[in-house]
Amino acid sequence: MRTESKQVMPWRIEDIDLTKIDRQAAVANEDLLLLLCASSFIESGTDLYTSNLSTYFNDDPEVSAWLNNEWEPEEMQHGRALKTYIAYVWPEFEWDAAFASFFEEYSKTCSVEDFEKTRALEMVARCVVETGTATLYRAINECSNDPVLKQITDNIRTDEVRHYKHFFKFFKKYNKIEGNGRLAVLGALMRRVMEMKNEDSEIALRHVFKFRYPERVNDAAYNRDRSARISALVRRNLSAEMAVKMLLKPLNLPAKIQPSLHYPLTKITQHVFFR
Ligand SMILES: [Fe+2]
Ligand SMILES: [Fe+2]
Repeated sequence: MRTESKQVMPWRIEDIDLTKIDRQAAVANEDLLLLLCASSFIESGTDLYTSNLSTYFNDDPEVSAWLNNEWEPEEMQHGRALKTYIAYVWPEFEWDAAFASFFEEYSKTCSVEDFEKTRALEMVARCVVETGTATLYRAINECSNDPVLKQITDNIRTDEVRHYKHFFKFFKKYNKIEGNGRLAVLGALMRRVMEMKNEDSEIALRHVFKFRYPERVNDAAYNRDRSARISALVRRNLSAEMAVKMLLKPLNLPAKIQPSLHYPLTKITQHVFFR
């Protein structure tokens, strides 16, 4: 455990040599940059989420210490790392202003009332979110040839998988007390999966577009088509296999029925995750 030495991070963006980025090649992949920028916004908005989450778990020192000392600084670094990459490739992009515009809208969508009704079920929802990010960064990693971006997204994905494991451990801890059945767990799981479809990434992309293409701000068709192209980029590289495995885990299904659920769940995941 790293709880005493608060500031030790598994990796640091400052240690990555950005001069190895092939700027011209990176600029050519505009859709990928738009996606990275949207992701940097969501990651950088994490501290708002943590203060809400810590409030929800404030009488549990194990969970709140981990949230505050490890999870939050790591998520914030994800935002910072992607922001640093964007700044290197798009020096003219006004990230701070665009983020402020995003955050004004985004902050209204996270509130304590959005949490699941019990702690164990909230942990299931958090597992879904970490599954989503782990899957996303793996997909980004696969659609890029840039060694620097590959290294950054590989580091981030490793962090997200570790976050998942922590939330899963906390789920088990609370479910021992709450004893939620599979149906209740499945309910929390599906609610969060369905939510992923629209909210966060849609808001983030909209604000990226607004600052990247101010002249197109009222061109709804253009923005919709561009979003669809970005989603397609992710979907093409998505590992539904990994996502399904992670999603199924909290259900603790008997081994013999798992294969029969695998195919339908893979299809649903492909359909729903990142549209
Ligand atoms: Fe993250
Ligand atoms: Fe995470």
